[in-house]
Amino acid sequence: MSDNDVFTHPYKLGDLEVVPCSTVIGAEIRNIDISKELSAEIIVSLIQAWHTHLVLLFRQQDLAPEQHIAFTSYFGTPQSPNRTSFTPLTEKYPEIIEVMNVDMDDKQLDHSLGNSEAMWHTDMSYKPVPPLGSALYSREIPPNGGDTCVSNMYLAYDDLSEEMLREIDDKCAVHDESRNSAGILRPGFPDQKDPTKTPGPHHPIIRTHPETKRKTLFLGRRPYSYVPGLSYDKSEYLLDRLWAHASQKKYSWCHQWAVGDLLLWDNRCVMHRRDPFDKNQRRVMHRTQIAGSRPF
Ligand code: OGA
Ligand code: MN
Repeated sequence: MSDNDVFTHPYKLGDLEVVPCSTVIGAEIRNIDISKELSAEIIVSLIQAWHTHLVLLFRQQDLAPEQHIAFTSYFGTPQSPNRTSFTPLTEKYPEIIEVMNVDMDDKQLDHSLGNSEAMWHTDMSYKPVPPLGSALYSREIPPNGGDTCVSNMYLAYDDLSEEMLREIDDKCAVHDESRNSAGILRPGFPDQKDPTKTPGPHHPIIRTHPETKRKTLFLGRRPYSYVPGLSYDKSEYLLDRLWAHASQKKYSWCHQWAVGDLLLWDNRCVMHRRDPFDKNQRRVMHRTQIAGSRPF
């Protein structure tokens, strides 16, 4: 099997069957029940597949919150995000984030994206140390809409022109902490519309994946992004070109959910987005995330 075959043909890793979802990103792992305790050999295979395909899909899984958290822990330390509001579930399981459009007791949820589109983003890159990955598990799915797309930022990096590489080499971007991925202002932040005043950490635009050692684009989110050291106009011009390049369809694959699917993405080299859906339909997802390290 040549290196390229793994993106076009199903293959075996021990007892696991790995079925590529597209030629650029994603693989479904078959012949596994992730609610069970996994052997060291299987974990090594999963991590190998994860580094190759960046996103792993497990279908028809039946996971209690404890099992979801236990599965997440094979890839690192499950993280409890700081939050200002809890649901009964997240009070009991601080590691779980409920991503859903139904509000519990009319409470405003920290991470509720509602039913709107979530634009291309990296999870919590507005933190100095963003999570290294997330595991999103579907519990209730609307009949249509709400697909989640992922895209390969190694490939976007590999395709950059020499000229663009020179422009972004050693540059950072500010990652806006004040708004969520649906563009909603988080509580306690001023409604700042001048990108040169964006609150949030600075991360290198090109980062090196600490495990694979490959270079990748690390853009975060487009709204209110800014490249310190450049004028506003120059920063906008650069970011518009970078984002137009990075969000090309050819780097991405979209997943249409069924109940019981779990999608695990590597937040260091993958961006994701979500389609909107009918607000009268229920969509309930449980997400865990894995503690990461400072981007370099
Ligand atoms: C997330 C996210 C997308 C979705 O939970 O970080 O972007 O499909 N979710 O709900
Ligand atoms: Mn997200």
